Amino acid sequence: MPVPAIAVHAGAGRKPRDPESSKAVSEVVSAALDAGMRAARTGSALDMVVEAVKVLEDSGILNAGTGSTVDLTGSVSMDAGVAYSKLGRAGAVAFVKYPKNPIVLARYVLENTDHVLVVGEAADRLAERLGLPKHPGVAERVRKMYEEAKQKILAGEIPQKFYSKSQQLWLKLFGLGDTVGAVAVDSEHEVAAATSTGGVFLKMPGRVGDSPIYGAGLYATSCGAASATGIGEYIIMFSLSLRVVDRMCGGGDPAVVSEEVMKEFTARFGADTAGMIVIDRDGRAHGAYNTQSMPWGYASKDVIKIFGL
Ligand code: GLY
Repeated sequence: MPVPAIAVHAGAGRKPRDPESSKAVSEVVSAALDAGMRAARTGSALDMVVEAVKVLEDSGILNAGTGSTVDLTGSVSMDAGVAYSKLGRAGAVAFVKYPKNPIVLARYVLENTDHVLVVGEAADRLAERLGLPKHPGVAERVRKMYEEAKQKILAGEIPQKFYSKSQQLWLKLFGLGDTVGAVAVDSEHEVAAATSTGGVFLKMPGRVGDSPIYGAGLYATSCGAASATGIGEYIIMFSLSLRVVDRMCGGGDPAVVSEEVMKEFTARFGADTAGMIVIDRDGRAHGAYNTQSMPWGYASKDVIKIFGL
């Protein structure tokens, strides 16, 4: 397969409710792939995944950045992580409220600190000090969803207490796509992964999911990279991204091993729980999921394809 190449996902969940929503998601995925391939002209796999995820975060229609979902109190808090094989490092932020693009702050942690994960108010202050654009606050679409959910809770249709099973129900009720991500390989065959999210709907304030956790929500090493989406508690317990890339390092074909690992994940946690995209150092990419849909796309020189809608 040609390199550079990139794959992006817009979150595992239910199919968009109508053709207009499908079209809107497909256009965002396509714009993210374009941004990634544009970055490849002069940049690295790290540039490719960060530029692609920025587009997904800015879309407002996905659960990351501007379109992030809310916790039980109606507040936005976001997690993001990025990893790059050439530096052999990851950088991540969690429970941040300030930046419009948490993935940019995660990249700063990777490139400019000795740390892997910086969280909460200190991470927000760092974003402010760096002059990063500020998050605009809860999106109207999300605020409406929150009001609707509150009514369902009051009517006893859904338990107020957060637990992973209720997330599966929310995925079904609202068709929530969860999390965005990108994996890429550059012309030097270095790979990178990036994942960004508003987390799960109605989470407990302070809850952090898999997206910033290296090995869970993302992983990148010399043979390949993965970005995961779905119920973070399960993904962390399974080390989903680490597991799939490890099998690629053992010589497995990305499509075969990602479907295999997804099957094992489903056997343990049930259907409607997760998805992932993977890419190897030769540019072979695949998307595997156990939900009704997971919009994802692949691009390399002169090729752009959208799947999972
Ligand atoms: N996969 C996103 C989360 O659970 O936070």
